[in-house]
Amino acid sequence: RILILDFGSQYSHLIVRRCREIGVYAELMRCDTNIDDIRNFSAKGIILSGGPYSVYEEEAPHCVPAFWQYVDQTHMPLLGICYGLQEMTYALKGKVSASAKREYGHAELMMKELNAEERKLDNQANHSPAVNGVPTAPRDSEPDPNQVHDNPTAVSPNVHRLFQGLVHNPTRVWMSHGDKVTQLAPGFQAIAVTPSSEYACVAHLEKQMFGLQFHPEVTHTDEGTQLIRNFILKICGAVPSWNMKNFAHTEMERLRRQIGERHVLGALSGGVDSTVAAALLHKAIGHKFHGVLIDTGLLRMHEGPEVIQRLKQHIPGLQVDCIDATQEFFDALKGVTDPEKKRKIIGGLFIECFEKATKELHLPVEGGFLLQGTLYPDVIESISFKGPSATIKTHHNVGGLPAKMKLQVLEPLRELFKDEVRALGMELGIDRSSVWRHPFPGPGLAIRILGEITRERADILRQADDIFLDEIRKSGDYDKIGQAFVVLLPDVKSVGVMGDSRTYEMACCIRAVATSDFMTADWYHMPYDVLARCSSRIINEVTGINRVCYDISSKPPATIEWE
Ligand code: XMP
Repeated sequence: RILILDFGSQYSHLIVRRCREIGVYAELMRCDTNIDDIRNFSAKGIILSGGPYSVYEEEAPHCVPAFWQYVDQTHMPLLGICYGLQEMTYALKGKVSASAKREYGHAELMMKELNAEERKLDNQANHSPAVNGVPTAPRDSEPDPNQVHDNPTAVSPNVHRLFQGLVHNPTRVWMSHGDKVTQLAPGFQAIAVTPSSEYACVAHLEKQMFGLQFHPEVTHTDEGTQLIRNFILKICGAVPSWNMKNFAHTEMERLRRQIGERHVLGALSGGVDSTVAAALLHKAIGHKFHGVLIDTGLLRMHEGPEVIQRLKQHIPGLQVDCIDATQEFFDALKGVTDPEKKRKIIGGLFIECFEKATKELHLPVEGGFLLQGTLYPDVIESISFKGPSATIKTHHNVGGLPAKMKLQVLEPLRELFKDEVRALGMELGIDRSSVWRHPFPGPGLAIRILGEITRERADILRQADDIFLDEIRKSGDYDKIGQAFVVLLPDVKSVGVMGDSRTYEMACCIRAVATSDFMTADWYHMPYDVLARCSSRIINEVTGINRVCYDISSKPPATIEWE
């Protein structure tokens, strides 16, 4: 396990992703997490993220003072990235200065050769006492310094093992920083430089502490993943055993222990998260799991019956019922336009519906669990240190449940990213068509009907949305898109001509994004002919809409949903 301490960088979650892609479980915690929680995590190594601050600022975030003693006592390997390097330098008595101009963009990183003595020092450090009592993995064999290199840009075997396996020297890295280190902390030395930074990569060879002025976690750093791989596998000695097969096995065991003889009610939407969570629970506890789909009146066209049928087909033996609560939802949302209020009302009503379902299904009202498909990005948004990756919407499932709720929340996917959930779904044998469905938010069409929600507006949006999805499925674009939907715009009515008469109707906006993790997204470059067919069909077939726009905003700075 690798721990990442978050100083508020917009890239922090990418570090977690890179570690997991390499096969090592990693988690993000606030930079000021107390030392007991850090110790209990039993990391093999710790990465300090970047952040938007200056270390000397009054508001600047820092690790707790006991952190540095802990690192020292346990010989914990450490990698500081950008602000993380500056924090390390500051804490260990080096100097950081504000630079007059911000360095932003590509730079060429030139790795230095280590001399024999430095290599020996480094090698000894790797045979240091076991980290937290866990022996480190054996290191690779020593590089052969006599190896001949024909290619002048190839990486010499004498560079630090943080760089081994890299293909080019210099290699392209991505810089994004204002301040920089001007005096190294005692014991540190530069092991790579760029034309504008003599401390682009620094190391304390004995203590296995490293600092990078650039960001290895972003794809703009050509060989960044290899660098992170070297840190976590070669230097920390972590073993790459994180995969969905192991996860499914241990999580099912854990669920069985936690649930015992009690029951679990699952809130199912037909989306990939709740479907995978339901399959996991069904496999773990069988008939003690019961799924319900609440028809809020804010689902997609024909969604209720279709989802029930699909779930029964894809998860054989699953118990699942549909509850019609459309009137309750439209009544409660009458006159409400504020998106956060909509989410709260919907969240509250969902819980009431589940409590009602518990009674109708004759399940015990207390002592049971409620399954939610919360994912790691939701958790990150709720725990992140203040800064650019701080909470943007109070959406998702984390922390939004009313206190009166009598069911305990169960979130078996809360450690996973979306692509990991899909891999888990495939591992559990769920059909591709369920696993690769576009996600659909819990509040459904409510956050896509901007302004007031009425049954009539929901029907209009549902029809437009259905046409849009139909067209992108037919054109073959659906599988290339991460998420696609239509948004009904509020208070915008525009003039049109239909037949011989003028119309004065609503406008809608179609949105399609390409993304793998839903934390960042590009607007999808939809072929013009597909756009043309969507627009023409929506305007012709949906009474109430006479204008269609296409959203060309990426995330960030926009979000995927409009509300
Ligand atoms: P944003 O709009 O934050 O969306 O870029 C990222 C992903 O989250 C979904 N989303 C929600 N899911 N409840 C949910 O269950 C919500 O309130 C909510 N808001 C956004 C969104 O559809 C996208 O997949």
